[in-house]
Amino acid sequence: MAFAESPYAALLRTQAKDLSLPPPGEDASAVAMRLAEGLRQRMVSEGGAIRFAEFMEQALYAPGLGYYSAGSAKLGAAGDFVTAPEISPLFSRSLARQCAQMLGAVGGDVLEFGAGRGIMAADLLLELEALECLPGAYLILEVSADLRERQRNTLMANAPHLLPRVRWIDGLPQGFRGVMLGNEVVDAMPVELFKVQYGDAVPLGVRPEREGFAWCELAGDEDLSRWYWALCEELGGPLPEGYVSEANLVQGPWLTSVLASLEAGLLLLIDYGFPRREYYLPERRAGTLMCHYRHHAHPDPLVLAGLQDITAHVDFTALAETAVAAGADVLGFTAQGQFLTACGILELAQAAGEDVRTQLEVSAQLKRLLMPHEMGELFKLIAIGKGVEEPLLGFAGNDLRRRL
Ligand SMILES: C[S@@+](CC[C@H](N)C(=O)[O-])C[C@H]1O[C@@H](n2cnc3c(N)ncnc32)[C@H](O)[C@@H]1O
Repeated sequence: MAFAESPYAALLRTQAKDLSLPPPGEDASAVAMRLAEGLRQRMVSEGGAIRFAEFMEQALYAPGLGYYSAGSAKLGAAGDFVTAPEISPLFSRSLARQCAQMLGAVGGDVLEFGAGRGIMAADLLLELEALECLPGAYLILEVSADLRERQRNTLMANAPHLLPRVRWIDGLPQGFRGVMLGNEVVDAMPVELFKVQYGDAVPLGVRPEREGFAWCELAGDEDLSRWYWALCEELGGPLPEGYVSEANLVQGPWLTSVLASLEAGLLLLIDYGFPRREYYLPERRAGTLMCHYRHHAHPDPLVLAGLQDITAHVDFTALAETAVAAGADVLGFTAQGQFLTACGILELAQAAGEDVRTQLEVSAQLKRLLMPHEMGELFKLIAIGKGVEEPLLGFAGNDLRRRL
């Protein structure tokens, strides 16, 4: 017997078709429908609309229903997007060299935030083992229960003998020594969206519209206005009327708590983004918000809610300011291509194998990781530390701190 398709499942199918992409399966649509019902209820109980940051937080992390919490593949060829550790083990092996330098200096553990499928954890541990510099423990702080399970499976398959060193933790440890890492974690935090109107930042919200969702403007907000006026002061004037962009108001408190946990060692955050003056360029009139569904990037977060990734670029100046205010040192800021080269990725690539097939694969991977028009320039690393004296291996090539 054929069942009639629900109006919401039909809408999801149309949204995917409009993007020229395959429709979500029945199970995925059913989960997305429950998420959408929850979002609509929130909108009703909050007077008709919710702030975009709340929409993004639910769409990504609602327990069991959000993009990162539900069971879809997410990362990798079968998912929606790939990250640097998924492109090549050379990424994590190069990063391991920076970790080894720091573990050699301060000892201790590695703590990875948001470990995705666990590919970086496995490759990094294997390389640290080869360098005879294994950390006491490899801690993973992951907000998604589904991803924790995938991380465990990856580690079990790729580095089973190192699995006993890996511990999943629910909160920040006290007095942490060693290396903290986060690849593409800050870009996955919920952001406020704002529109410049009559010289102020008006928060954008989301309301129900027929089966789906639509944008709306919300009443002014003191925190957002204060943030916007400080931004204008720094930029030397207001942004153009109608300008839309994002404000990540959660990364500051998050970083402050992370640095309160760091007693000695290094926090390395890797992400796409800019120093603030480059982020809020007057000509970047539509911000940086981007969605990923089945390896297709598009700018509309209100479609396919719960089935696609939503992400925004990172304001690295904000990270640096928070770090200094928290009593930590900004030890380096550089582009991914420079960092990996300084850590010896080319030497590692050369040693990867002589046969033509391996060499071709490796050069394609290097191109994606290093070339300025691929990930080499847009992706940056900021190194924040406490009690670190020696210059960092990966930042020796080109230190861009002056641009922050
Ligand atoms: C874009 S994925 C990147 C995954 C992985 N690091 C990689 O490079 O493949 C974002 C990850 O950050 C996690 N995440 C988001 N906010 C987090 C937070 N506040 N603390 C820890 N993990 C977080 C997500 O669950 C997900 O694992």
